[in-house]
Amino acid sequence: MSIGVGIIGAGVMGADHARIIAGQVAGAHLVAISDADEARAKAVAQETGAKRGVNDPLGVIHDPAVGAVLIASPDSTHADFAIACIKAGKPVLCEKPLAPTAAEGLRVVEAELSAGRRFVQLGFMRRFDPGYTEMKSLLNSGAYGEALAFHCIHRNATAPAHFDSAAAIVNSCVHEVDISRFVLSAELSAVRVIKAKRSKLAHFDDPMLVVFETDKGQLVDVELFLNAQYGYDVKGELICETGTISFGPTSNTEIRSAGVTATSLAPDWRPRFAAAYRIQNQAWIRSIVTGQPAGSSVWDGYVATTVTDAGVKALHTGETVAIAYEKRPGLYS
Ligand SMILES: NC(=O)c1ccc[n+]([C@@H]2O[C@H](COP(=O)([O-])OP(=O)(O)OC[C@H]3O[C@@H](n4cnc5c(N)ncnc54)[C@H](O)[C@@H]3O)[C@@H](O)[C@H]2O)c1
Repeated sequence: MSIGVGIIGAGVMGADHARIIAGQVAGAHLVAISDADEARAKAVAQETGAKRGVNDPLGVIHDPAVGAVLIASPDSTHADFAIACIKAGKPVLCEKPLAPTAAEGLRVVEAELSAGRRFVQLGFMRRFDPGYTEMKSLLNSGAYGEALAFHCIHRNATAPAHFDSAAAIVNSCVHEVDISRFVLSAELSAVRVIKAKRSKLAHFDDPMLVVFETDKGQLVDVELFLNAQYGYDVKGELICETGTISFGPTSNTEIRSAGVTATSLAPDWRPRFAAAYRIQNQAWIRSIVTGQPAGSSVWDGYVATTVTDAGVKALHTGETVAIAYEKRPGLYS
């Protein structure tokens, strides 16, 4: 059995997902790619062997040959497309974030609750990254005692022109929101944002330090620096009672020359998290076959948007903002 996949959004991520589904995932084939820019959809369809490239997202969702939909269009479109998929009874892999705000994210939770089952997996691919998954299992082994704090670094070479300080939290820091909940098995209960001296090369508050408290009393600090120039760099170090846990090298080769030892850094997230995207997409297809949900749920997506709502408030007020959630429905227990 092979599941026909339709992709909405054929930009950086949609094209990457199309290549992964076409070349690295078993049990799935591409049916249609839709993009607001039809020429882009057609180009990605031609490159990846999808049957058609169109500018008709709802047509893709309702196409009987499409058994599952991957949403990789801009953040503001995710909730409506995900709800349309749920109403059509189609499983979804939706890129992060679920929505720009918690109020919009909650609409998708309500749609799944009305349908009475889960349809949506959120594209928080770090949950499938070998570094983070091993970090979580080492913590859960108990060998290093309890986790006390989690230092995170999230640096991009350059931020898109449309980014601002709030977008850095809503669109970028949301990855650390989800992965820290996942690694620590904890909820984030408060957030504070501290602005560093602004880089002359940045058009918003960059870098920033975003500091969370968890409901277990741990600290999670995230250095966000989205105009770091030198490359894409994501780090995590878990501070435990009797040791620390951080990732191994993310490069396979090391060069020693002219008195310097060097490893390469990815220019962006695609090569850095290539394994995570591939494992995530395979897990999504497998979950459709088995009926066992994988990865982050719509509830995790809603929680992340609630945290980033509070983060944006903390950014604007300079205060520590407490984070309050709706009651978790039984569907997500
Ligand atoms: N998981 C990750 O690591 C990761 C990394 C980058 C981006 N993302 C997410 O992926 C999504 C896409 O990001 P991107 O970097 O590919 O952006 P992009 O701008 O490169 O691509 C977005 C595409 O969507 C198209 N589009 C716009 N409105 C549309 C609509 N209504 N219907 C169909 N297509 C539409 C645009 O024409 C464009 O081709 C975003 O939500 C972003 O947050 C996730």
